[in-house]
Amino acid sequence: MKKLSYVIALILSLGIGNLCLAVDIIPQPQIVKDLDGTFSFAKGMQISAPQEFADEAEVLANMFEVSSGYTLEVTSKAKKAQVVFVHDAKLGSDLGDEGYVLEVKKDQVVIKAAKPAGAFYAIQSIKQMLPVEVAGYYPTPNVEMTIPCVYIEDAPRFGWRGYMLDCSRYFASVDRIKKHLDLMALYKLNTFQWHFTDYQGWRMQVMKYPKLTKVGSTRAQTIIYQRGRKLYANQTPENGFYTQEQIKDIVAYAEKLHITVVPEIDIPAHSIAAIAAYPELSCTGKPAEVKESNHGGMSNVFCPGKDSTFEFVQNVLLEVFELFPSKIIHIGGDEVNKDGWKACPHCKKRMEDEHLKDYDELQSYFIQRVEKFVNKHGRTIIGWDEILDGGLAENAMVMSWRGEEGGVAAAKMKHPVVMTPNQFLYFDYVQSEDRENEPYVSFKQVLPIDRVYNYDPTPEVLTKDEREYIVGVQANMWANFVVSPTHFEYMTYPRMCALAEIGWTAVDKKNYDGFVGKLEKQYKRFDELHVAYRRHDK
Ligand code: ACM
Ligand code: ZN
Repeated sequence: MKKLSYVIALILSLGIGNLCLAVDIIPQPQIVKDLDGTFSFAKGMQISAPQEFADEAEVLANMFEVSSGYTLEVTSKAKKAQVVFVHDAKLGSDLGDEGYVLEVKKDQVVIKAAKPAGAFYAIQSIKQMLPVEVAGYYPTPNVEMTIPCVYIEDAPRFGWRGYMLDCSRYFASVDRIKKHLDLMALYKLNTFQWHFTDYQGWRMQVMKYPKLTKVGSTRAQTIIYQRGRKLYANQTPENGFYTQEQIKDIVAYAEKLHITVVPEIDIPAHSIAAIAAYPELSCTGKPAEVKESNHGGMSNVFCPGKDSTFEFVQNVLLEVFELFPSKIIHIGGDEVNKDGWKACPHCKKRMEDEHLKDYDELQSYFIQRVEKFVNKHGRTIIGWDEILDGGLAENAMVMSWRGEEGGVAAAKMKHPVVMTPNQFLYFDYVQSEDRENEPYVSFKQVLPIDRVYNYDPTPEVLTKDEREYIVGVQANMWANFVVSPTHFEYMTYPRMCALAEIGWTAVDKKNYDGFVGKLEKQYKRFDELHVAYRRHDK
């Protein structure tokens, strides 16, 4: 079966595929009916679109500009446009805000959706059926922009289809982030979690606390090379942060791609970069340093005993609210070493005043107090599954990373859950057992692409009603060992394609052999887009 799909993919890649173009969309749409014939986009064609879909129509109209050298005309009047967008509000009750119907006939393409996101995803399906050159950087005027005739009815399985990038440990440039966002959109992912505070650097400009980026985003050494879980550095200082203007630019760019940017301010632990800038945030107030490792132990944690800690967190969050329209704000909450709290008079007093019986309850106090502030500003918190310890905050969403247990517990408590269990969705894990031949080795765990693909985020231990609280799935690209933009890409692609099918495609429509066959075209696309990736057929 696997072999057969390779052969089909090979035939297509050799260009014999025009006889029978394949619908090789990732994620696999829910309903696909092959029709006879093909449709070719060409200069002079018109797109008609109602006002609701004017922006989406422009996306399609401009798709051929670089490759084919023309843009299509968008009009709301054309009687016989070759591409027609139809606003169908009723479709929303069946297919939701992100669903669409796409009908490709020999003489016309019809896109129906209730909301712009659905129309946008129809365009992504068209883009995927087109030759890979359409999304490339070069003029390829001789490539026919042809797609197969087909009827597609499609809608996602989950509302949260996420990808997280750790830009604290490895600072990704604005352009590199946009490149990831483009590919996320192509694969119909809709949530970008931006992890930009951690031990290794504070990357978000905060006007009220300039030292966060002046001090907290600089390390004494630059990491230049990684091999066998070892990092090699030279003595050049390394720094980088995102200005508020750059953040706004990324958020706006993502919005056009129907991607929500969820910022993560990781507190109370993973905070040594902030503490290096403002030592008074920790229990001891001792000076700290930003380094390339997870270090600091109990001194990388904020002091929940001091009111000034909350004042700081709230002021930072006020700027977060200004920059990020996301309803959901990630506040971290993971891996808190509570030993520092045990020796702290401020923490001791807080526990007495608030009648907290242990340090888990002190952590819960911290998260709950932050949650109240976030809720007051009309937003919701999400945190790593450690926020369950000591009592879950009233309205919190939970991101389950230490396996599924935290997610299961939260779903049973009727809290929304995003599943991102490390053993299935940590993209920093090495991609094959053959570690010697992998260019990048990080932690000891191995995560091959079939293991990602076959993951189902709704655990059987949950009842049908409880499963409703699993709102989605996310992969996390941690950068503890990342040394270059291509390293990020190599670990991400094509495992992101497998993530996309978990998040979008109904379980009974998934098929691993078919997926591997479809990857062949993605490899060509990645070559075209200069994306580093790992092949998974060898
Ligand atoms: C995590 O991996 N510490 C969320
Ligand atoms: Zn303290």
